[in-house]
Amino acid sequence: MQILETGPDEAAFTGWCEVWAATQRADRPGEAPRPASDHVALGRRLTTPGGALQGTHRAAVDGGAVVGALRVLLPVRDNPAVAYLDVAVHPAHRRRGVGSALLADGARLAAAAGRSTLIAEVDEPGPAAPGRAFALHHGWACDLRETRRDLLLPVDEQRLSALEAGARAASTGYEVVTWRDRTPDSLLEDRALLSRRMSTDAPSGDVPVEEEDWDAARVREQEAVHVARDRTVLSAGAVREGRLVAFTDLHVPLATPERADQSGTLVLREHRGHRLGTRVKTAVLRELAATLPQVRRISTYNAETNRPMVAVNEALGFRPAGGLSTWTRRP
Ligand SMILES: CC(C)(COP(=O)(O)OP(=O)(O)OC[C@H]1O[C@@H](n2cnc3c(N)ncnc32)[C@H](O)[C@@H]1OP(=O)(O)O)[C@@H](O)C(=O)NCCC(=O)NCCS
Repeated sequence: MQILETGPDEAAFTGWCEVWAATQRADRPGEAPRPASDHVALGRRLTTPGGALQGTHRAAVDGGAVVGALRVLLPVRDNPAVAYLDVAVHPAHRRRGVGSALLADGARLAAAAGRSTLIAEVDEPGPAAPGRAFALHHGWACDLRETRRDLLLPVDEQRLSALEAGARAASTGYEVVTWRDRTPDSLLEDRALLSRRMSTDAPSGDVPVEEEDWDAARVREQEAVHVARDRTVLSAGAVREGRLVAFTDLHVPLATPERADQSGTLVLREHRGHRLGTRVKTAVLRELAATLPQVRRISTYNAETNRPMVAVNEALGFRPAGGLSTWTRRP
């Protein structure tokens, strides 16, 4: 078995993407895996100079076939000691040391880039997820456990309108706006601040990450990446005196629009307590029903300690569907 560098425009990358697809099919058989085009678009972003995130890919090749995949992500504008590793081994080639070899290679690449803290996520559809045993075997620490919750669409109309009415009554003086894919220019600086706050305000357990450095240009860069990855992003925000003080984003992959993902939701600290979280979430659900009725399900991930967000999601009808854990290897 050899570990080779690969990239989005190389032949081996097809095999690299297929390893991820096979892993996702094995973990969650009812769900379409991410299409190769998504990995290709992300890969191009990671190798384009000037972006907020850089990265490299390695393929474990055995007998001419790709059997394992590694992606190393390096934040460029913040978190200079951190590297994020993604490791997957084709289900037919597990328990032969391929994952361990890729992990060691990832640690080596990270160290060469001056990164001493390694972070990896493990999807846990059920209690027997191999990634957990693998991370424990390598002495990594579990620093965050999140519950995934799914919402089946359409949302019951009575439930939605009752939540909307309650939230509107509790948040007079705030106006709700929605947009798709491109934040209005007038709200861009505020949107950058919300991303900065999101990186520290959303409970992240003991994961050793620092505040992310966001500005208007980084928001625009991120929007371009979503378009390149063939995703459309529906957003709702709350505005007071011309300033954006809360937002929520929903990502819909255009190739498989049945399944959307909830991305960030944040209300600035000084504007909490007015049910703005519910208000922006109900607004984006209305927008979704009107413009993308193909979406049948939304998935969201929350730390159980994030009671306010979990309460909003449960009121909307989100129900538990497995978990996601974040693991760290500290220096
Ligand atoms: C986790 C994963 C990468 C492991 O790949 P692998 O090639 O099977 O791993 P290795 O053969 O190097 O396993 C090393 C050790 O991890 C532990 N381990 C790995 N899979 C395990 C499982 N299913 N059950 C129990 N222990 C397991 C064992 O201690 C194993 O050593 P052993 O086989 O000598 O007992 C693979 O199962 C996978 O792709 N899972 C889905 C993606 C994922 O969770 N990635 C993890 C990111 S940290």
